[in-house]
Order: sequence, then structure tokens, then C-alpha cells
Amino acid sequence: MKISIVYVSESGNTEKVAGFIRTGAEQVPETDVRLFNLEKPESVDEAFINDSAAVIFGTPTYVANMCWQMKKWFDTNWTVRLGGKLGGVFATENSPNGGGAELAMTAMISHMLVKGMLVYSSGSEFNRPFIHIGPAVVRDQMELREEHCRVFGKRMAIKAHTLFDR
Ligand SMILES: Cc1cc2nc3c(=O)[nH]c(=O)nc-3n(C[C@H](O)[C@H](O)[C@H](O)COP(=O)(O)O)c2cc1C
Repeated sequence: MKISIVYVSESGNTEKVAGFIRTGAEQVPETDVRLFNLEKPESVDEAFINDSAAVIFGTPTYVANMCWQMKKWFDTNWTVRLGGKLGGVFATENSPNGGGAELAMTAMISHMLVKGMLVYSSGSEFNRPFIHIGPAVVRDQMELREEHCRVFGKRMAIKAHTLFDR
């Protein structure tokens, strides 16, 4: 099963979190995870994303919202087909006191719903840690959230296998 992690990262924070999530997802057997940074369009393999059972989107928080590059991608990309896939979100931010990462994530979720995705966070399904919307990671506290991100990745992969394995 393929899982894509699609994100924007200008200075590396969101990319680092994407790596944590990948490590967690790869703990689930038969899971092939690839990372795609929209800042490097030449490296984005749309065929792999179209083949993926789940797509996880990550954004840096820009002005308490998703970054403009991610918004542009959602608004203008119609070649990647997201309908019917499992979707998840994560975001990084600077401020430990409410920099807006949750708002950035819910903004992405609106687009994912419009494109027909099955959005999932794991929430309280597996008890602690509860992951309410998706991992919200403060730039300077990344190591504190590494395990949380791994758990999220693993839960996303388990859910994708549960839904789509035959
Ligand atoms: C234009 C711009 C707006 C930003 N707005 C916020 C914000 O509202 N809240 C916040 O906590 N951090 C904000 N940041 C900081 C980034 O969200 C943070 O540094 C992020 O981890 C960068 O991710 P990257 O290294 O993957 O590019 C902003 C950064 C930029 C460049």
C-alpha cells in the first residue's frame, strides 16, 4: 500500500515532521511511504500520489492559516485525484502559545473534504495520546513531539490498511 505525504517546507521544519510521520507509518508492514515537498515540484510524483490509499498534508502556519503555496496547490491542481482516499493533516508553527496551527489544519481539511477525501485524525479512537486534528508542532519543540508524530503516522497507515486492504 502506498501513502503520500505532501507538504510545503521552506526552511525544513515541516519536512522534519513529515519524516517523523513517515517513520511511524513505515512501522506498519507492506506500507510504502514517500514525501513530496511542493517547493520542489520536479520531485512530486503525481502517479505515486494517485496510486496512494492515503495522502497526508503538511503545512507551515502562515498568518494563522495554511501557507499560500499549499492553498495555491489545492486551488489549482486537478490532476491529482484525492476523492475516496484517506486524508490526514499536520502543521508546524513558531509560537508555543497558539500560533494558529489548528486553524491551518482545519483550512486544509476544508479543501480535502471538497475533493472527496475521508479525513481522519485518530482522535480518541486509540486512547492516549489523543490527536485532535493532527500533529501541531512548535518549531523549537520538535523533538518533544517526535513520538506523537510517529504514533500519528502509524495510526494513519493502520487505518488505511483497515479500510483498503482486500
Ligand atoms: C509568512 C509567514 C507567516 C508566518 N505566520 C506564522 C503564524 O501565524 N504563527 C506561527 O506560529 N508561525 C508563523 N510563521 C512561522 C512558520 O510557521 C514556522 O517557522 C514553520 O515551522 C516554518 O516551516 P518550514 O521550516 O517547513 O518552512 C510564519 C512564517 C512565515 C514565513
